[in-house]
Amino acid sequence: MYSQGLIGADGSSEETQEFLDAFQARIDAEEKIEPTDPMPEGYRRTLVRQIGQHAHSEIVGMLPEGNWITRAPSLKRKLALLAKVQDEGGHGLYLYSAAETLGVTREQMTEELLDGSAKYSSIFNYPTLSWADMGAVGWLVDGAAIMNQIPLCRCSYGPYARAMIRVCAEESFHQRQGYEIMLTLCKGTEAQKEMAQDALNRLWWPCLMMFGPHDGDSAHSEQSMKWKIKRFSNDALRDKFISATVRQAEFLGLTVPDPDLKWDDSLNDGKGGYRHGEIDWTEFWRVVKGDGVMNVERIAMRKAAWDDGAWVREAAMAFAEKEKQRTAKVAA
Ligand SMILES: [Fe+2]
Ligand SMILES: [Fe+2]
Repeated sequence: MYSQGLIGADGSSEETQEFLDAFQARIDAEEKIEPTDPMPEGYRRTLVRQIGQHAHSEIVGMLPEGNWITRAPSLKRKLALLAKVQDEGGHGLYLYSAAETLGVTREQMTEELLDGSAKYSSIFNYPTLSWADMGAVGWLVDGAAIMNQIPLCRCSYGPYARAMIRVCAEESFHQRQGYEIMLTLCKGTEAQKEMAQDALNRLWWPCLMMFGPHDGDSAHSEQSMKWKIKRFSNDALRDKFISATVRQAEFLGLTVPDPDLKWDDSLNDGKGGYRHGEIDWTEFWRVVKGDGVMNVERIAMRKAAWDDGAWVREAAMAFAEKEKQRTAKVAA
């Protein structure tokens, strides 16, 4: 009666075929899966991994920009950047909470991030060298995040899908504030425009890598699509991002650093699309595996922030405990 159910890239477990079929039928009927619902172990583990990586990316993603808050060129820029970085912290907390509904704890996830065993988006292991990078990060990195996350609002797992709705609204503000920084620089002096072009040159390729390996090399893609965790493949999302972004670069008067980039009418069933040059996957894997310019520094900064915040966590716990005792006394 028990079959070895193939339940995705995380391995397999003993689950009846009837159980797996019934689960798939719920997914196919576009029902949301909630924390207390039965689910295949592979579905749960895939989500723990994906939501965990997503949460870590939001948290580490605060660092390259937090770095520029004190150096923002005006009060208006400082306020917007501060608000953006705070939003990213909020996204991380939302997502840790969503992952916790699947049976992992935030402490576990934090430990994995700090001991270097957890993955997060490779883009955050690149340095932010000038103010223009704040523009390019908002425009490109948050722009890529939106492409990735809008379809996640329809993810089959309820808590993840619901978290994404607010997150996407905020990402859209982030993208606009970044693009507006770029626009200001591109309308400014020659030196400012050069700074904007330099930021685009350095961040373009790492941004394309954010969408992950080509579909054929993406281990978890097919099962994730079947379970409707993912709605579009890595390559499809990357193409969408390129199509939207190239036009924005043209409007800025900037050049996308890809000599092989060209429009091809025959792509996307005749709707057309851009062909792009070869992505350096060796660099991608090197950075993912810990050897990017900033990997060590980012984790060290994150660890310092976590350690510095220990007293806040302790105070909050002590306060919660006091409140609990007070409520118990009133009830007694
Ligand atoms: Fe975010
Ligand atoms: Fe963002």
